[in-house]
Amino acid sequence: MLVLGIETSCDETAVGVVEDRFRVRSNVVASQVDLHAPFGGVVPEVAARAHLELMQPTIERALVEAGCRLTDIDAVAVTAGPGLAGALLVGVAAAKGLALGADLPLLGVNHLRAHVEAAQLEFGELSPPLVALVVSGGHTSLVVLEEPDAEGGRAGFRQLGATIDDAAGEAFDKIARFLGLGYPGGPEIDRIARQGDPRAFDFPRPLARDGSYNFSLSGLKTAVIRELRREEAAGREVDVADVAASFQEAIVDVQVAKSVKAATDHGIDTLVMAGGVAANSRLRARMGEAMEEAGGRLLVPHVQLCTDNGAMVAAAGANLLHAGIVADLDLPADPNLPLADVVGAAG
Ligand code: KG4
Ligand code: ZN
Repeated sequence: MLVLGIETSCDETAVGVVEDRFRVRSNVVASQVDLHAPFGGVVPEVAARAHLELMQPTIERALVEAGCRLTDIDAVAVTAGPGLAGALLVGVAAAKGLALGADLPLLGVNHLRAHVEAAQLEFGELSPPLVALVVSGGHTSLVVLEEPDAEGGRAGFRQLGATIDDAAGEAFDKIARFLGLGYPGGPEIDRIARQGDPRAFDFPRPLARDGSYNFSLSGLKTAVIRELRREEAAGREVDVADVAASFQEAIVDVQVAKSVKAATDHGIDTLVMAGGVAANSRLRARMGEAMEEAGGRLLVPHVQLCTDNGAMVAAAGANLLHAGIVADLDLPADPNLPLADVVGAAG
């Protein structure tokens, strides 16, 4: 059973082929980083136009790398939301074209769920219950995958909390820009923070102890910028590594505290982490330690499966097909698709 997955919700044009729900046959990502770097962030209109140009060649490469042809594919999965409207439309239109042309079932995938379900490509079947933290340039969400209801329905995803302002990756990118580091900023901060002292600056940990599973990062961002300006005004030279390490530690502290709390509050011992920020070395290490201390375990796939990719969409689509949930050619691109929504109907 081969499912082809298409991902265009943000700035990566990505196509992957997954076999039998768990095996990656190919995972091709055409990154647009160079196109957006001059702007210091993703420009939606630029992303949509680039998807249009990259779509066809990326599909072709994914098929070649998977060692198959379109006629070998059993279903086409596509991210239907959430994401940038224009960007999503390109992927959804391409998937519909393939489904119609090759007479294949169409599977409408929720991007956030796909991030979580990517872990099955490395760790096998994800048995509920589990808690997942999705941290990327576009999202900071804490979700729970609950056991199927008494009637034996499909395991359900429920959002526990999310950022009320900036996503974690967005904060990394903005502070990196302020520190004169490159774009995207997350990997730069990760790298330079290794030479810094995480206790050099006592930055705020917003909402750390409010009891909710929500996140807020704009206050932290403002505090860092204010501190830099104060040092500058006083004629002191700031140690960029110290600022990066202290800022990163503040983010990591909150992500770890909230994720572990979500797991223990719900009596769940497995935590899945995904999204570009899950590549952060300090976050991976601290989260792993904290889960172990709490008597649980952390599942975090390789970085290629954490950042936006087509294989995760194919895996999520394969799960839908497995559950008999198929979309039709009316499938909308929904920029605000809620996590709980399944796109399609059991047939
Ligand atoms: O998942 P992703 O590739 O795309 C979105 O859906 O946004 O995530 C990209 C984000 C960027 O903000 C980038 O700075 C951040 O992930 N990122 C990191 C690291 N690698 C990527 N943040 C912190 N540490 C890293 N090592
Ligand atoms: Zn994403």
